[in-house]
Amino acid sequence: MQSPFLTDMLEGLNKTPKVLNSMYFYDKIGDTIFQEIMNMDAYYLPKVELEIIQNQTAEIANRLSSEELDIIELGAGDGVKTVAFLKNMIAAGKKVNYVPLDISPDVLEINKTNILSQIPELSIEPIAGDYFKTMAILKDRKKPKLILFLGSNIGNFKGQRGTDFLKLVKSHMTSEDHLLLGADLKKDPKTVLRAYNDPEGITARFNLNLLSRMNRELKANFDIKKFEHYPYYDPISGSCYSYLVSLENQSVEIADQTILFSKNECIHTEVSQKYSLNDLQELCESAGFEKFQTFLDQKQWFCLALTQ
Ligand SMILES: C[S@@+](CC[C@H](N)C(=O)[O-])C[C@H]1O[C@@H](n2cnc3c(N)ncnc32)[C@H](O)[C@@H]1O
Repeated sequence: MQSPFLTDMLEGLNKTPKVLNSMYFYDKIGDTIFQEIMNMDAYYLPKVELEIIQNQTAEIANRLSSEELDIIELGAGDGVKTVAFLKNMIAAGKKVNYVPLDISPDVLEINKTNILSQIPELSIEPIAGDYFKTMAILKDRKKPKLILFLGSNIGNFKGQRGTDFLKLVKSHMTSEDHLLLGADLKKDPKTVLRAYNDPEGITARFNLNLLSRMNRELKANFDIKKFEHYPYYDPISGSCYSYLVSLENQSVEIADQTILFSKNECIHTEVSQKYSLNDLQELCESAGFEKFQTFLDQKQWFCLALTQ
């Protein structure tokens, strides 16, 4: 049977324009490069989000009436920021169980090691897989839930896809549950673009790794030198797009199919949406969330929105 990775890649490469699903960035190598991105000076997002977590988790905890909570994190990653969040929730008197969901089993292992090294007594139940599927486990949990969707992950779903994703999350929530959404805000366009176009080329390596991953796992024959990372930020819509540009006319073999690229043809690989507070509230409302409170960093670059 054809793997979902192969099916999705072939489908995307046969579209006009070509498009690849960004969830496939995160294999073992992609996870490592993403950790490098998180440590880059230009990639301001984790720093400002962590500032909010450090200064305002106690206030967020205050807004949650239940003393005992299941904290479920969608696309949890390495847990570096989450550990600070969990510590502050516990310091605020909450008894928590932590359930990280991520498509990458490797990053979940790192997450568990990171978190237990700092909170050894924590109950943690990692679940590997695509959260569109694994999210179903939320319905069986009896305790009030706080669902975390941090790191501007929501920004990978543009327009109606964002609404549909949040509707799906909401359909797994009860009236006692809350969602904490980490979203990147619109700001100076140069600051945004630099985050996706670092001079060291780490983001470029991350984007190109998707082609290398196809070479490794699907026996494709992309010549990585013949593609170039190209990010583009539109400050009006707040959409930051990442592309891979074919540097020449070329053909690539993948699972007995030949994919043709013309010179300068682009593959769209990722969108990272930036929001105004109004945009964000409208997005949550469009998915049926009625209550909406925001927590911002000092520069007002990032927002944690607590919604219900
Ligand atoms: C941008 S990183 C953010 C990680 C973390 N939330 C943070 O704030 O640092 C996105 C994470 O989501 C995971 N991911 C992406 N698509 C996914 C999917 N469909 N199902 C589950 N996890 C996914 C990736 O493996 C990666 O760890």
